[in-house]
Amino acid sequence: MKDIQLHTTHIKRFVKAADLKTVMAPARMIHRVIERRECPGSDFLGWLHLPSSLPEALIKDIERTATQVRQDADCVLVLGIGGSYLGSRAAIEFLKPAFANECKDEFPKIYFAGHNLSADYVAELLALIKGRRVAVNVISKSGTTTETAVVFRIIKQWMEKAYGREKARERIICTTDAHQGALRRLADEEGYKSFVIPDDVGGRFSVLTPVGLVPIALAGIDIRQLVKGAADFEKKCSEPDPRRNMAYRYAAVRHILGAKGKDIEIMSTMHPSLRYLSEWWKQLFGESEGKKHKGIFPAACDFTTDLHSLGQLIQDGKRNIFETFLVVEKERARMTVPRLTGNRDGLDFLIGKDLSFINRMAYEGTASAHHDGGVPTMTISIPERTAYHLGQLFYFFEKAVAMSGLLLGVNPFNQPGVEAYKKKMFKLLGKPGA
Ligand code: PA5
Repeated sequence: MKDIQLHTTHIKRFVKAADLKTVMAPARMIHRVIERRECPGSDFLGWLHLPSSLPEALIKDIERTATQVRQDADCVLVLGIGGSYLGSRAAIEFLKPAFANECKDEFPKIYFAGHNLSADYVAELLALIKGRRVAVNVISKSGTTTETAVVFRIIKQWMEKAYGREKARERIICTTDAHQGALRRLADEEGYKSFVIPDDVGGRFSVLTPVGLVPIALAGIDIRQLVKGAADFEKKCSEPDPRRNMAYRYAAVRHILGAKGKDIEIMSTMHPSLRYLSEWWKQLFGESEGKKHKGIFPAACDFTTDLHSLGQLIQDGKRNIFETFLVVEKERARMTVPRLTGNRDGLDFLIGKDLSFINRMAYEGTASAHHDGGVPTMTISIPERTAYHLGQLFYFFEKAVAMSGLLLGVNPFNQPGVEAYKKKMFKLLGKPGA
């Protein structure tokens, strides 16, 4: 089976061999400190060898739980935000059919909440699930994140009203810290089924812990394949030489581009199922690198849709961006352009051509035009929409951001900046002690 690949041939005009040479020695040194767990933030390196060391008992427990819930529920509410939300959403959107929640044979429906503070959103969700068999997976490492905690309080009350407290308990699964936090206390007191987020894995690196694996399994996705893909890339990305390590090569190129004033990276996806993968990537890179007034701003475009809006700016605007394309090589379906009588729409030149092929030409044409317009472009190709390849991609980006953040001279594993808005909000809300 083919692996995901990084193509950097179109970067050569902007990143010279001499540039890459300057990053080699620091990258090798950083590789050593990561492996020896001597880098800044080394308490949060639990993700590094996670894929190859996930206990079989945990995987079985997740699978058993998912099988039971999939029998007992028509819909599952997954509550979480940031790292406790984006990974599972990325996986479900990438791997399930586009209209899974509308398909009559697709159960359970998966709905996300706890990632915003909109009354309308929660009210409309509760109206939607009325009368259905509901299960809930609430996910929060700290157990105190306002968005998730407040929405869970509302959902918990709704569940207890719908099922009675005893029965509601059987339909709620918590994923949280092993020992501390409000959600752990609640889970223990109520006797909810619970899964543990390891201490040494930060939120945005947690997709391969129960944070991501439980909702992904609830959606009926093969988590063993996901973990296998990640484990294979754990091995592949353990090579110290950046020339032979795809994750380090990506980190090195973006580091050089950043140093040359390219301070926005656009993840340009060529398949609609990748939209939340870019959201996950945005969090991973933004929260890991954006410190000490440094960092490349991670943005995302959904092509070809956004070629009809932001395409103009990318082609012709300020030259401070570079672009990483994410393409799926082989789609699941074939959809050819039919012959019609007459050629009134002028599309006869496309008769018999597959939409995937037209999309491929759109990608190649766009990458070439953007390159000519002064935008460095790279491409990550994904052979197929499988859990195995997604596992590779998750691990690839995690390893890359560790290298990238450390090359930049920041601790990629903390997020001190996210506390600032919370302090202000709590003061405004009159939280005791705020
Ligand atoms: O990456 C992070 O650490 C954050 O995005 C968290 O995942 C997010 O704030 C949610 O935190 P918690 O899981 O504690 O509710």
